[in-house]
Amino acid sequence: MQQAARSVGYSRTVISELMTPLHANFEGRINAGTLLSLMDKVAFTCASRHAGNYCVTVSIEEVEFVYPVKIGDLVIVKGSINYVGHTSMIVGVRVDAQDIRTGEIFHTNSSYFHMVAKNANGEITAVPPLLLENHDDVRRFFEGMLRKRARNNMRNELKRQFAKYDFEKILESLRRERCQIGFDISAEEKSDNILL
Ligand SMILES: CC(C)(COP(=O)(O)OP(=O)(O)OC[C@H]1O[C@@H](n2cnc3c(N)ncnc32)[C@H](O)[C@@H]1OP(=O)(O)O)[C@@H](O)C(=O)NCCC(=O)NCCS
Repeated sequence: MQQAARSVGYSRTVISELMTPLHANFEGRINAGTLLSLMDKVAFTCASRHAGNYCVTVSIEEVEFVYPVKIGDLVIVKGSINYVGHTSMIVGVRVDAQDIRTGEIFHTNSSYFHMVAKNANGEITAVPPLLLENHDDVRRFFEGMLRKRARNNMRNELKRQFAKYDFEKILESLRRERCQIGFDISAEEKSDNILL
């Protein structure tokens, strides 16, 4: 039976946390890991609310840090469901940092978290469709659809490319890279699996 669609607003999640010295590196900037952990928490909450089941993170798209967060900043992390597949969801996560003295807000980074729902037995399970209520919802859903398709195509293409490589070709393509072969190639056993 088809589950009832849930709106983006149903699961939209916002958390904020004040950055203390515990979150910082030796230069007083906030660690990337601190931000990633908050982002994962928001993505998990958002996806699990939509799914009505606990979810796992299956992949995280490229994360670029465009503004350094400092001790004393208030970090605000927002997440909303962009796209829903059969058992998976893409959660858009945005991080802003606020200087609490001035109220100024800076965009720090954004990313897309691919989450999969699991039932009480730990099996992957279907999630409700997404109810699209405005133009932004439609655009984000469409972008998510393209993003998922592009990632699948890239994974398949990489597998295809790696499968046809031979070791001599790999060595040839490394010739102009900044690496040196530091072992006796003829003595070392070659691995069949280069996709580690
Ligand atoms: C997530 C997991 C259940 C997927 O298992 P799987 O056997 O690959 O499942 P499937 O191939 O049937 O894919 C299930 C869904 O995940 C999606 N998916 C699988 N791999 C993906 C990837 N690398 N990126 C994005 N989506 C992916 C599929 O597209 C599918 O979505 P759909 O049902 O909406 O079409 C499994 O990889 C897992 O348990 N991973 C560990 C997750 C975890 O513990 N995360 C915490 C970090 S340690």
